[in-house]
Amino acid sequence: MAKPAQADIDAILGYKDLLVRNAMVLRKRDPNDYYWRDLTDPSKLLRNGVLLETNMVTSWIAATRKPRRILEIGTRSGGSLIALLSAYPEAERSRIETIVSFDLWREYLSTTGAATGIAKLMGRSSNMNFTALRNLFPGAIAAKAENKIKDNLRAFGLPTDKIRFVAGNSKVTVPAFFKAEPHAQFDYILVDGAHDEETAAIDLENTWAHCAPGGIVVFDDIMPESYGLIGVWNAFKLKHGDAFDFFEVEHRKGVAWAIRKPASPK
Ligand SMILES: C[S@@+](CC[C@H](N)C(=O)[O-])C[C@H]1O[C@@H](n2cnc3c(N)ncnc32)[C@H](O)[C@@H]1O
Repeated sequence: MAKPAQADIDAILGYKDLLVRNAMVLRKRDPNDYYWRDLTDPSKLLRNGVLLETNMVTSWIAATRKPRRILEIGTRSGGSLIALLSAYPEAERSRIETIVSFDLWREYLSTTGAATGIAKLMGRSSNMNFTALRNLFPGAIAAKAENKIKDNLRAFGLPTDKIRFVAGNSKVTVPAFFKAEPHAQFDYILVDGAHDEETAAIDLENTWAHCAPGGIVVFDDIMPESYGLIGVWNAFKLKHGDAFDFFEVEHRKGVAWAIRKPASPK
């Protein structure tokens, strides 16, 4: 495991207030979403007295690296995009060229009031997924989810004009996207879609070669407290050690990132 430099960890910890502030705005907009409920109660997220969430890493990346070409697998309701875009210096944000968001909008229905009510009746503390219902109306759900993200971004005064949404299963949509745009390169790639090991590994494999030299690939949920995807990450590291430098934060859900070496082999 390669730990980030202490100076980087200290800088990441500096994004706690932004994380909580953003979550408070989002909680007001979407009181049914457990994401914002948890993030507005930092005491739940502390481990050994430290709060370090993936979206703080995301904000740190925006502030320090200012990526202009952004790819995200797993946008949900826009939390990670907001963490990213709200941390840019204003002038740099206007230089963003593209944001491509892949999602199958599995969780859109789960944050409705009815879904929250059912989850509560069943004694669950997190929202439920209604995948079968979503599969009945995929187009309508995608349109609603995409509008919700745009509305959420606007609530922060963030631009929405650069976003391209690609709805569907990333195992299919990501290869199709790169088949159509084989030379597309990104400065920031977030892999946070499906969290089964197979799909997470495929998502990494389908995107890494499109990370520009000096760009960054972020991979969430490596620790056992979350989805425990460290095995997927370690396999990725073994395979692509010549192309990237790797870093891991083993805190709570755990997050990892890889920085593409300049002019590395494809
Ligand atoms: C953990 S959430 C993403 C959270 C978001 N990055 C954030 O921090 O706010 C995972 C998202 O991935 C989506 N997803 C799950 N499986 C997927 C798949 N096979 N293809 C595309 N998206 C998928 C879900 O619909 C959900 O919106």
